[in-house]
Amino acid sequence: MIIKSSSYAVSAVKESQYPKDNLPEIALAGRSNVGKSSLINTLLKRKNLARTSSQPGKTQTLNFYLVNDEFYLVDVPGYGYAKVSQKRRQEFGEMIQDYLETRPNLKGLIILIDSRHQPTKDDIAMYEYAQYLNIPILVVCTKMDKIKKSQINKVMSGLKKHLDLSYDHVTVLTFSSVTKLHVAELGDWIEDKINQ
Ligand code: GTP
Ligand code: MG
Repeated sequence: MIIKSSSYAVSAVKESQYPKDNLPEIALAGRSNVGKSSLINTLLKRKNLARTSSQPGKTQTLNFYLVNDEFYLVDVPGYGYAKVSQKRRQEFGEMIQDYLETRPNLKGLIILIDSRHQPTKDDIAMYEYAQYLNIPILVVCTKMDKIKKSQINKVMSGLKKHLDLSYDHVTVLTFSSVTKLHVAELGDWIEDKINQ
C-alpha cells in the first residue's frame, strides 16, 4: 500500500460521533502501552499523528485517522491499565464492544501483543472475544527490536501456546516501530481487507 495522505479525522465515544462517509475501517486493539499509536505513526510515516506516550492509558477515545481518503484506521483505548478506575474501565469496555460489534464498516481488527511478554489474561480474552466478530484478524507481535534473534522462536511458541492461531481468518505478523519490520506486509494486509 502506498500512503498518499493521512490526517486525524475525529474522536468518538459513541456511534453518533463515528464518521458518516461510509468508508471501510480497520481497528487496532491491545493492552495499554503495547504500541498501537506507534504502529499507526510508523505505517503512515508520521512522527506524531497518533499520540504516543510512555505513560499507559494515553488514548481514551476511539480515534479515527483518515488514510488516502480511502479508509480509516481506528485507534482504540488500551485495556489492562491498572490505574483506571473500575467504573471507567467498564465504560471503556462498553464503548469498545459497541463499536466492534455494531460497526458495519469494520473490515478487520489488528490485535497487538507485546512480544517481550507472554500474552496476558486480557490479551487472551480479547483474542477469544474477537473470534466472534466475524471479521479478519491480524495478530501483531510488537517491539520485536527488543527481542534477540535467538529468542524469536520462543516468542512464537509462547504465542501459540496461549492463542489458537489456526483459524483461516487469522494472520500473524512480527513488527517493530523502531526498525519498521514488516511495515510493508502490514500495509498489504490492510489493503487486502479494505478491498474485500
Ligand atoms: P495506549 O495509548 O496507552 O493504549 O498505548 P499504545 O498502545 O498506543 O502505545 P504507544 O504507541 O503509545 O507506545 C507505548 C510506548 O512503547 C512508547 O514509549 C513507545 O515509544 C514504545 N514503543 C512502541 N512501539 C515500539 C517498538 O516497536 N519498539 C520499541 N522499542 N518501543 C516501542
Ligand atoms: Mg495509544
